[in-house]
Amino acid sequence: MKKIVVVGLVFLALSCKGKEEESFGKQEETTVSEGMVAEKQSPEKLGEAIFKGKGNCVACHQVDKKVIGPSLQDIAKIYKDKNADIVTFLKGEGEPIVDPSQYEVMKTNFAVTKAMSDDELKALEAYVYSNLK
Ligand code: HEC
Repeated sequence: MKKIVVVGLVFLALSCKGKEEESFGKQEETTVSEGMVAEKQSPEKLGEAIFKGKGNCVACHQVDKKVIGPSLQDIAKIYKDKNADIVTFLKGEGEPIVDPSQYEVMKTNFAVTKAMSDDELKALEAYVYSNLK
């Protein structure tokens, strides 16, 4: 009688393991297809939409020339050179490194950027870097 119980337990353990592996495999499949969906709306494209849309960053930033704020090419270059983090800056948790003398003007936007999700901020960052020459 004892033996049957032990065999039953071993069998149960084995069949559970099999199920775990199976569902793990399925999980991997979904991740891949999600990645394919994300490819359609790339972070750069989403970032560009926010930059020109609800972020209204375009009011002060142009791609290749300084207007009120530095150009995106300058920002991208300096952030890359210094290995700095645009997302952290936009959360209001960083230091200005491009044009600190004008920081007060940029600061007014943190009310907008702080309300954005991490994904939106990362998309903005991707868009800024996509202008790197
Ligand atoms: C009212 C004008 C204005 C708007 C709108 C604006 N910026 Fe700026 N931005 C500036 C100015 C001026 C600077 C230069 C000061 C500085 O470097 O912090 C700057 C600097 C920056 C920098 C470089 C920060 C650094 O380290 O020096 C980033 C990145 C940036 N802006 C991103 C954005 C994004 C993203 C948006 C839209 C959500 C935006 N800006 C909207 C005026 C603006």
